[in-house]
Amino acid sequence: MKYPVLFGFPSFTAAMLLLSLSVAVPPATADPGRDVVLIGERPAIANHVQQAEIEAGDVTLRELLSAGERLFNAQFNILDGQGRPASTGTGAPRAPGQPRFIRTSGPDANACAGCHNQPRSGGAGEIVANVFVLAQTLDPVTESVSGAFSNERNTLGMFGAGAIEMLAREMSSELIAIREAARREARRTGHDQTRDLVAKGVSFGRITVLPDGRVDPRAIEGVDWDLIVKPFHQKGAVVSLREFTNNAMNHHHGMQSEERFGIGVDADNDGLAGELTVGDITAVTLHQAALPAPRPRLGGNPTRRRAIRAGARLFSEIGCGGCHRPVLVLESRRFVEPNPFNPPGNLHPDEVSASVEFDLVARSASTLVRPVGKEKVAVFAMTDLKRHNLNDEQLDHFDNEQLPQGMLTGFADPAEFTVPPRPRPTGDFLTRKLWDAGNSAPYGHRGDLTTLTEAVWFHGGAARNSRERFFSMSGRDQARVIEFLKSRVVR
Ligand code: HEC
Ligand code: HEC
Repeated sequence: MKYPVLFGFPSFTAAMLLLSLSVAVPPATADPGRDVVLIGERPAIANHVQQAEIEAGDVTLRELLSAGERLFNAQFNILDGQGRPASTGTGAPRAPGQPRFIRTSGPDANACAGCHNQPRSGGAGEIVANVFVLAQTLDPVTESVSGAFSNERNTLGMFGAGAIEMLAREMSSELIAIREAARREARRTGHDQTRDLVAKGVSFGRITVLPDGRVDPRAIEGVDWDLIVKPFHQKGAVVSLREFTNNAMNHHHGMQSEERFGIGVDADNDGLAGELTVGDITAVTLHQAALPAPRPRLGGNPTRRRAIRAGARLFSEIGCGGCHRPVLVLESRRFVEPNPFNPPGNLHPDEVSASVEFDLVARSASTLVRPVGKEKVAVFAMTDLKRHNLNDEQLDHFDNEQLPQGMLTGFADPAEFTVPPRPRPTGDFLTRKLWDAGNSAPYGHRGDLTTLTEAVWFHGGAARNSRERFFSMSGRDQARVIEFLKSRVVR
């Protein structure tokens, strides 16, 4: 056991005080064979995970998952490196004198589980846990929650997230294969090639590739022009749990990971380098990916059970399932870390000698992640992982945001396209997964709707037709659909 690394702290008195408080004493029942016990102020995470040991096979999956769980629940403090006095939530340098915590721009919490906790760690969050997305990029920080400075979003749960990430990876591979086949054909024939973009039965519009290899993206729908399906963030802006974790650790807690900010670099000038190792990020990513999936709660009451069954049928009949696809099928039941679509600043498969894998079916422990034959898996998450615009002239509740979140080019070079890059539209959001709808209230991307029915009420635009069908049903049939959604819960 080692003392926490306290030297190198900026010379503020708290650090000096803490140094004097952390004391090593032999255990009361002095036994010469036992470790000394460190008492007093300690970092939340005393032992970090080494990626080299993971790749060498010296760490079991079980050990990795429990290290990941500790990291997810840890209440980071200044001995861990909490805070980012000299950098923004994106890592850019910022003016001195920044607050240690600020609810709007972050750091805004001590622990991932501080927000993700409904009904337990890893879940969704109350409106009090909303995040002011993009405010973390500002220098100076903003105290304003006005939509002019940030997009207010409600906390999502990550139960079943491993299956979601794998669905997105397989869909990206399918879409990219369509583009590359068109590109080869365009080169060979010297003519433009247009193809339908379909992955797992979900249509993402059409793509045209020119003989010079450039892409005309104007008919691509609901996915970035790089055709990489980004299943995380309600905007569909983040490709993997790992990318999200590297972002969130810095944004929310001021904890810099080495893979993002460099090994031995004190990027935020808080006196500590190496706040999170590559192995730490692998562990906390795997913890999220391996959380069990939501489950149906049918209950013993026959009236309720009948309502849930009828509701599931009605849900598809009136077209809700057109976007909230009841099921998408994975070709493989393995979750594999890291993700080959990770952008720079996040561990990539080329950088590791061995990946970590686990069986999604076993870990999900839910009938909503169900094996089909030997290798395939049916995932009942109720999403198509595509962005849609639910706004029109009369209904524009979901068009409340002002700031675009990133560019439609995704990770691609703008020169690959025939038209100039454009921001992601502010009114488009990923079809919300509904497999935890029964206990992820409040609803809507801002979390400003208290019932499922209100959320359905504001389905205009692309969902207008199924919305009209929902509200033209009898009250009893509406209640059946709601009862079906309420039965999908995290337990
Ligand atoms: C202050 C509250 C808060 C904290 C702390 C927080 N999150 Fe989140 N998290 C959110 C919100 C809000 C969203 C939804 C963001 C959006 O849709 O724009 C989210 C979304 C996510 C998602 C995407 C889920 C999905 O299905 O799209 C992941 C993954 C995630 N957070 C991981 C983490 C990790 C890891 C930590 C700790 C390092 C963390 N979060 C800390 C509020 C928080
Ligand atoms: C055109 C695609 C589309 C159709 C059709 C559709 N939805 Fe949605 N649904 C979405 C999107 C996108 C969201 C996310 C809205 C937001 O928060 O910005 C959503 C959100 C929801 C939510 C909110 C869930 C939460 O946790 O916040 C519920 C409930 C819901 N849909 C139910 C339904 C029902 C019931 C139907 C059929 C009457 C339906 N949807 C039809 C795309 C669709």
